[in-house]
Parts: sequence; structure tokens; C-alpha cells
Amino acid sequence: MTPSPAGDDGSESPGVDPEGLVASAVDRLAMITTLTALDELQTDLLGKRSALARAHQGLVALDPGERPEAGRRLNEARRQIESHLAVARRALELDERSTRLEADRLDLTELIGPALRGRLHVVQRTRDELEDVFVGMGFRVAEGPEAETDWYNFEALNMPPAHPARGMWDTLYLEVGEPETVMLRTHTSPVQVRLMESQGPPIYAVMPGKCYRRDTPDARHIPTFHQIEGLVVDRGISFADLAGTIETFTTAYFGADIHSRLRPSYFPFTEPSAEYEITCTICKGSGCRTCSQTGWIELGGCGMVDPAVFAAVGLDAEEWTGFAFGFGIDRCAQMRHEIPDMRVFFDNDVRVLRQI
Ligand code: DAH
Repeated sequence: MTPSPAGDDGSESPGVDPEGLVASAVDRLAMITTLTALDELQTDLLGKRSALARAHQGLVALDPGERPEAGRRLNEARRQIESHLAVARRALELDERSTRLEADRLDLTELIGPALRGRLHVVQRTRDELEDVFVGMGFRVAEGPEAETDWYNFEALNMPPAHPARGMWDTLYLEVGEPETVMLRTHTSPVQVRLMESQGPPIYAVMPGKCYRRDTPDARHIPTFHQIEGLVVDRGISFADLAGTIETFTTAYFGADIHSRLRPSYFPFTEPSAEYEITCTICKGSGCRTCSQTGWIELGGCGMVDPAVFAAVGLDAEEWTGFAFGFGIDRCAQMRHEIPDMRVFFDNDVRVLRQI
């Protein structure tokens, strides 16, 4: 019997058709849908016990003259099968990766749920509500820059260089131009000056915004805070108009049980000047720790526009009179929401912010 290196069934004789092997490999590959099945097929097609391997072993049985050509065809068949396998593997890997990514996808909106979805910060909401109250009273809303020059922050507000009242505000200066000529505004009052310069009276405006002071944070002070400034300039404006405006605003914003009072004070840009206080919202006036047992909480300052300020912006103080006020938005939020320590507004602890 002729020695046969082929399998027991004799189907892989040395005369096996290498091109036929490639064609059948391509057919079988087309049925494969997973990488595991592909691994099995690869062993089947190229492994030690594959038809191809056996055909290789059968080469020795061939006439020496036929061997090189038969060997070359088998090698070529192996190369083609390998390359078909590689292409199929790449496609399956991509497929499996995208299936895995799809399965791993997390719907974070469901995880977060409605309770934690974003909303406006309480200070922003307070600012919006304050603007609404003043707009309802006939005021317009204006804004000015946070980096200011000495002229707007101090000089035009009746504080010439070296005026002792400048010490009322611990100022953060910017390294721009001559030393101490440009600063982060210490209050919103400079916007009054800008408004009077840029538009003539009558003026009925509020000017909210961020202010900066070289202050140490504590329960009622933060170095970056918010104020809302008010300015009215018209003919025949009196201190009674100021007091009435302040009281109207106070009950509109804080509620009918909260009132305002004005106490004599000093500001260089108003004459006379007053401190603006409201009934303590924590104890409703009976006296507590927050209001140091006085029943009143200071919100800001106010007064009649000083003639020197009118002069600085070129308005005739004989013809025009006006009042101004400025108070802390953060302080308002603190009082309205009865927050003992203002610093919680800026700690950004969502457990706190969600409650207010
Ligand atoms: N700008 C003052 C401050 O920050 C507050 C103030 C006082 C504003 C009197 C005014 C005013 O408009 O008339 O301390």
C-alpha cells in the first residue's frame, strides 16, 4: 500500500486542492459571529490537525519534482487563509467593542434625578428678586465694571486723594498704570457716577454687582460680595422720598412684618447720610444673638446726593436733587433665608445649597 500521510478517511491526499481549502475557509468564516467561534475555526483551519497541516505532511509522498510547486500552493493557501482570518478578527473585535461600550453606557440624568438638577445660586436668585422689586417700583437696572479707576471708586464720590474716608474701604489694587490708580471696586457707588455722566436726569436706577474688599471672611463678611446700589436724581427729591422708598422696598421684599429705620451716619458722597436697618428677621425685633439684642440688622447706607458729587459729574446742584442707597445682596439673602453664617453661600456644599 502506498504510504499515505493523509487522514484516515484519505480525503487529504497529497493531491488536496489548496485553492479549494481557501474557498471552504472563506465560506466557513462567513458563518462566524463571535471571537470564540473564530478562535475555534482558526485552530481547525491552521492547527496541527488541520487539513492544511496534513497536506503539508503529505508532501513527502510526492514525486520530488512535484513537491516545490505543491508546497508553494499550500503556502499560498495558508497565507490567504491567515489574511481572511485577520480581517474577520478585526471586524469582530470592533463589533464586540461597540457592543460592550453600548452595554456600559450610563444614563447619568437618571442617576442624578430631579432633586439635584442645577438651579440658580441663592445669591443670584436674591439679586433677581431685588431687581424685580425695584423694577416694579419704576427703577431701571444698570451695571458698571468691576475693575475701576480711582476717579470713579473714590474721587468723583467726594474723596480726593488721601481723604481719610478712603480708609472705610480696604481696597484691592490692580497692578495697572501708576500705583493705586486701578482697583477692584470696593462698592457699587462708582456706577452712580458713570450713570450720571452718561445720561442726564431724571434718573431712577438700581445697579447690582460684585464688589471686593481686603477683608477677613467671617459670619457676616466675605471679601467678594454683592451690593445693589440705588440712585434717584430729579427735581425736588427729598429725604422723605428716600425713607419712603426704603420702607416700600423693605416690606415688599422681606414681608409686611419687617420694617426699616434710618440712623444718622457718615458717607462722603451723601449729605445727610444714614445707615439703613431692618427689623431682625431671626427674632422679628424682640432681640437675639444675631442682632446683638437690638432687634435691628444693618443692611447698608444711604443719603441725599452730596452737591460735590453733582459737581464732579457736571450737574447743577441748584436744579437737581437726589438720593442714593447701597446695601449687600448677600446680607439680604442671609436675612431672608435666616442663615447664621454667610460663608455657606460660597462653600458650595450642595447639601446646604439645596435647602435654600
Ligand atoms: N457704598 C457704601 C458702602 O459700600 C454704601 C452706601 C452708602 C451707598 C450711602 C450709597 C449711599 O449709595 O448713599 O459702604
